[in-house]
Formats: sequence, C-alpha cells, structure tokens
Amino acid sequence: MVANVVILAASSGNNLTLANRFHDTFLEQKIQSQVVELTKLDWPVYTPESESDPDVSPDTSSLSDLMISASAFVVCAPEYNGLVPPCLNNSIAWLSVQCDDFRFLFNNKTVLLATHSGGGGAHCLMAMRQQFSHLGSNVIGRSMTLNKSKTFSQSTMDDLVSRVIQ
Ligand SMILES: Cc1cc2nc3c(=O)[nH]c(=O)nc-3n(C[C@H](O)[C@H](O)[C@H](O)COP(=O)(O)O)c2cc1C
Repeated sequence: MVANVVILAASSGNNLTLANRFHDTFLEQKIQSQVVELTKLDWPVYTPESESDPDVSPDTSSLSDLMISASAFVVCAPEYNGLVPPCLNNSIAWLSVQCDDFRFLFNNKTVLLATHSGGGGAHCLMAMRQQFSHLGSNVIGRSMTLNKSKTFSQSTMDDLVSRVIQ
C-alpha cells in the first residue's frame, strides 16, 4: 500500500455506489482507501452560534485525523439545485474551523471529483473545483460524470485512479 485515500460520499445512493467502486479500484491497485459516508455524520448545520456551543458542536476529530493522514481525497457528490449537497458543504464548514487555518485539512492535498447527478452534473463539479481550489487543494483536471444515460466506465476510473497516485 503506497498511498492513503479518503473517499467522501455526499449521498447514499448512486454516489455511494460510485465511492465504493473507487474503493474497489484502489484496492486492485494496492492503494489503501476508506469511504466516508457524509450523510451518516449527523453533524448539525454549521452556524457561528453552534460552533461556540459545546453542547451542539460535533466531535469532528475522527474524520479530521483520517484526512490528515490521507495523501488524497476523492469526492463523489450529486448535483443539488445547481450546487453541491448540503451535507458536503456543511462537513467542509465544520472541518474548516478545526483550527485557525481554514485550509489546514485540505491544503496541498490531491482531490479527484466525481458526480452521479440527474443531469450533467457540471454545476456541481464546477462548484467543487472552485471550493477545493480555494481550500488549497490540487484538483485533478479530469473528473467523472455519470447520470441515467452516461454509464460507468472502468477504464475512465482506472485513468482517474492512476492520476491520484502520481
Ligand atoms: C434536492 C435535489 C436537488 C437536485 N438538483 C439537481 C440539479 O440541480 N441538477 C441535477 O442534475 N440533478 C439534480 N438532482 C438530482 C440528483 O443529482 C440525482 O438524483 C442524483 O443521482 C442523486 O444522487 P444519489 O443517487 O447518490 O442520491 C437533485 C436532487 C435533489 C434531491
């Protein structure tokens, strides 16, 4: 095992299936990876008030620790209303306030983007590219887009996975 990849699944349907396919493909390449289901984190909606309330503020340490130890992230998210799902944005908000540097968990990490959306998913991919770039990540140029009429290609996934471990 030469790398350690955290795969963030931002919904529990087709995008979780896609996340698990990435996991299986990394395994075939002898790369360690772990799927994190963001829908299961059950973190409250981030607000400055919830951050300062110890009874409301979630324990983010297990995901933070996992991300610190990772060399790369894969993000599998559906497009919601021309953007990303709330659970992804909410998770990023909580993770970004774990220390004084909002970029800390993301800076200089390789990030691969993928979406299974109702349509083309282009808005979701653009939003994620902008957000992870803002957080200092190195977002890979090629991404994966799936929907009802654009079906899964293992050769595309193999190419994407090879870029994560370069
Ligand atoms: C609240 C909501 C908003 C959505 N907005 C969009 C959208 O703007 N563009 C799009 O292509 N699909 C949109 N969809 C469809 C989802 O992207 C699509 O159903 C996706 O495959 C769901 O992923 P999942 O199977 O992993 O849950 C939306 C779905 C929901 C529930």
